[in-house]
Amino acid sequence: MLDKKEEKKHWEHIYQTKSPLEVNWYQTNPSMSLELIEKTKFNKEQRIIDVGGGASILVDCLFKEGFKQLAVLDISAQSLQYAKTRLGETANQIEWYETDVTAFQPVHPYELWHDRTVFHFLTHAEDRKRYVRALKNTLVPNGHLIIATFAIDGPSKCSGLDIVQYDAPLLCAEIGEEFELLEVRNETHITPAKVAQKLTYFRFKRRFVSLFRV
Ligand SMILES: C[S@@+](CC[C@H](N)C(=O)[O-])C[C@H]1O[C@@H](n2cnc3c(N)ncnc32)[C@H](O)[C@@H]1O
Repeated sequence: MLDKKEEKKHWEHIYQTKSPLEVNWYQTNPSMSLELIEKTKFNKEQRIIDVGGGASILVDCLFKEGFKQLAVLDISAQSLQYAKTRLGETANQIEWYETDVTAFQPVHPYELWHDRTVFHFLTHAEDRKRYVRALKNTLVPNGHLIIATFAIDGPSKCSGLDIVQYDAPLLCAEIGEEFELLEVRNETHITPAKVAQKLTYFRFKRRFVSLFRV
């Protein structure tokens, strides 16, 4: 089990020793994420944050589609550097946060939180609580939440680390009643080494909770 310092070291080491094109989670087309974002009927002026986005090309795709308020958060500086270098000048129009998501303090709210295979690394209940706290501090009421994890019949490790596999009841129990589950989709991801990995994507909407009761 890694402590917080070791966790960051682990991820920096991965990105310093491997090309982002050869890591297991690399995708040439983040089609499921794009499809689910499209389903939210998201206004292109609203803010999207890709949590644990690392060197993923999701941000490039969203930028090309005309989304204007994009942010990428990752614990690894090296992963963000890959993305910035790839994007060139465009990187200046994107917000970058090098931080552990469980300690994230947003400078402004976001309307969509996307996380592909980050939450599943949180094997301690306390870290999951901190993640949900950061999520609630970041996402507006009626905001959209997309989380992908390894499926119940998927791998039990990712990047050499233990993970927690989720189905809808397990994830809903962690995320809480404030989030309404709208859609669940399965994906078989083929890694660059041609290994099949089963993922599940969950799309939620944050309920609007009124402070005034009649
Ligand atoms: C399996 S990769 C997925 C990357 C990206 N979401 C994708 O789909 O290509 C997990 C990513 O989460 C980042 N990460 C791991 N733990 C994190 C944490 N506690 N806070 C923020 N990022 C984290 C890693 O550096 C890595 O980039």
